[in-house]
Amino acid sequence: MESEIREVKAKSAYRLQHNQSIQEKEAFWKKQSDLLSWFKKPTEILTKTGDFTYDWFKDGELNTCYLVLDFHIEQGRGEQLALIYDSPVTNTIKKYTYNELKRQVAKFAGGLISKGISKGDTVIIYMPMIPEAAIAMLACARIGAIHSVVFGGFAPHELAIRIDDALPRAIITASYGIEVDKKIAYKPLVDEAIEEATFKPKFTILFDRFNDHQEIYDDQTLDFQTLLEQSAEVGCETMKSTDPLYVLYTSGTTGKPKGIVRDHGGHATALRFSMENVYGLKAGEVFWAASDVGWVVGHSYIVYGPLINGSTTVLFEGKPVKTPDASVFWRIIEEHKVNVMFTAPTAIRAIKKEDNLGEMITNFDISSLKKLFLAGERCDTSTFEWISDLIEKPVVDHWWQTESGWPMLGTMSGEIELTSKPGSAGLPILGFDVQILSEDGKHLPANHEGLVALKLPLPPGCLSTLWKNGQGYIDSYLSQHEGYYIAGDSGYFDQDGYFYIMGRVDDVINVSGHRLSTGEMEEIVASHPAIAECAVVGIHDELRGQIPVGLVVLKDRFELEEDNLEKDLIALIRHQIGAVAVFKHVVLVKRLPKTRSGKILRKTIRNIADGANFQIPSTIDDPLIIDEIKDAFLHRKIGDAFMK
Ligand code: COA
Ligand code: AMP
Repeated sequence: MESEIREVKAKSAYRLQHNQSIQEKEAFWKKQSDLLSWFKKPTEILTKTGDFTYDWFKDGELNTCYLVLDFHIEQGRGEQLALIYDSPVTNTIKKYTYNELKRQVAKFAGGLISKGISKGDTVIIYMPMIPEAAIAMLACARIGAIHSVVFGGFAPHELAIRIDDALPRAIITASYGIEVDKKIAYKPLVDEAIEEATFKPKFTILFDRFNDHQEIYDDQTLDFQTLLEQSAEVGCETMKSTDPLYVLYTSGTTGKPKGIVRDHGGHATALRFSMENVYGLKAGEVFWAASDVGWVVGHSYIVYGPLINGSTTVLFEGKPVKTPDASVFWRIIEEHKVNVMFTAPTAIRAIKKEDNLGEMITNFDISSLKKLFLAGERCDTSTFEWISDLIEKPVVDHWWQTESGWPMLGTMSGEIELTSKPGSAGLPILGFDVQILSEDGKHLPANHEGLVALKLPLPPGCLSTLWKNGQGYIDSYLSQHEGYYIAGDSGYFDQDGYFYIMGRVDDVINVSGHRLSTGEMEEIVASHPAIAECAVVGIHDELRGQIPVGLVVLKDRFELEEDNLEKDLIALIRHQIGAVAVFKHVVLVKRLPKTRSGKILRKTIRNIADGANFQIPSTIDDPLIIDEIKDAFLHRKIGDAFMK
């Protein structure tokens, strides 16, 4: 009874506050921005800059690295832990206080300046999950250089695409990444990418992880540690609120990823707000996002968010299983007294697969943990319930994307905290006006699935534009329905206002919580000389949420064994995108299902593989093809419907 009364009160407080955050957005965000230590406080809070575009805190000046490090030291937190590096793959735990992290960041920043990198230059960071990745990011922020972190699991071709778009003055990398027990040499990958790219960065800075001096250091290849040690500390450059802090590329529907641009002022304001009000984390507490700095979660909640909040962040180099086993999450929570954790549902499913009865957790004390947050993909109710029962703490599914930079749906912390509903990604976070629109732009009522849209202007922290492609930003997100940002997901809300995100409406899939483009995979598969046409679709996978499957039609004169063709195409995708795409299945068909106007019916293919109920579209050019596709999946035993 008491908890029901609390829930009712929280709900009405939430509604009131959410309403205020939308109706009086300038007052709401001014109050939040006042909590930051600006070099020059903004007087303009929200400025319209075009038909659909806005700037936050336009005349404000600050530096994000200052807020993350120097400010806390000035507040007396210098000897508090800022970062804990826990690497089961190298058996290493290393701890950095705010003082030590600042020393290394300020010296490395000095090193970058000494090599001619300055405010406004772009720098690509292609590194494994080591503290030097965070040091490199913060050093760039300190001097006003714009970092672009590329996930270490991407192949050279992906890196080359990003080099040609970001035009970096330098690339910062490390000698090796470690995948469970495999050492992956990064420098040859960087060299291959530079070779492929049209634009040539001036030099590479290499962190020699194991001091094995495999590289020759010269003007083109500088040693990270020497540069850091031999350079003097530098202070923080003054940045305009609207200056770009970083560019992070994310998959769109084509082979060319989108360069999401994040500003300084809006980003810092939003992340600070989210740490306290979404995650319920105080300064001095420990936050662990088990992600990678190559993804937006890593940017926002391994590096910037927890540190802006004066908290301690855990940087984990390992996997939920196999490093060494499915108890590693519980060991880390106990050992570092983690208060709030963030991971992807896939990681929970991987643990559940290894330790279905949840026996391992009983050997650990996880009492420090207040809440577990999940995001990156849809969380099925059975995973949600399994983990909730196991840890006996609130589990919060929350929805966001690279573009938003912080959560758009979820349940908040504090007096407006509401209980999560399994299967739902929660309610709109304060500041986000989330609505469901039909294809023709009408508002849909409760329990009707449609496009998930955000009413403009977006709150602070969301993408300000696409890198050197302002029109692309408008075309991709803002022009479909005037006054709205279209997120690319479909979903609905229920009678209580809880939202359910059902999946992408475009050619983007989520593999183990990693966002990948099937459009890009199709371009690569189609480049094989034997392929006449192809479709790559994301089908359901018990562990990874989705995996890609290629349906291919051969050119007339080619007769290839299905297995050999599959091997060729797998190798091609691994080489061009990376193993992380988990492209492992190819199905040979005589033709693809299409509408009479020639559009490939990808959703129908997906439904066939998943065994979902569906109606054969009335626009299909030849209904008989459905049975042919079913036979082809059955023959390869691919898809939930045909695996047994
Ligand atoms: N560098 C190089 N290769 C990488 C890599 C990296 N940073 N990350 C992944 N890969 C490779 C892996 O080695 C693997 O290669 P293989 O096919 O040769 O074995 C392939 O990419 C697939 O990797 P992964 O998806 O990690 O598969 P896995 O079987 O090793 O682990 C899970 C499965 C479920 C444990 C893992 O995917 C996982 O931890 N998922 C959660 C991810 C997450 O937190 N996402 C949230 C992002 S916000
Ligand atoms: P990324 O930009 O890589 O973070 O991927 C963003 C996409 O992941 C979203 O557009 C969704 O499709 C999906 N996603 C993220 N979080 C959730 C969630 N909680 N529930 C459902 N889908 C999610």
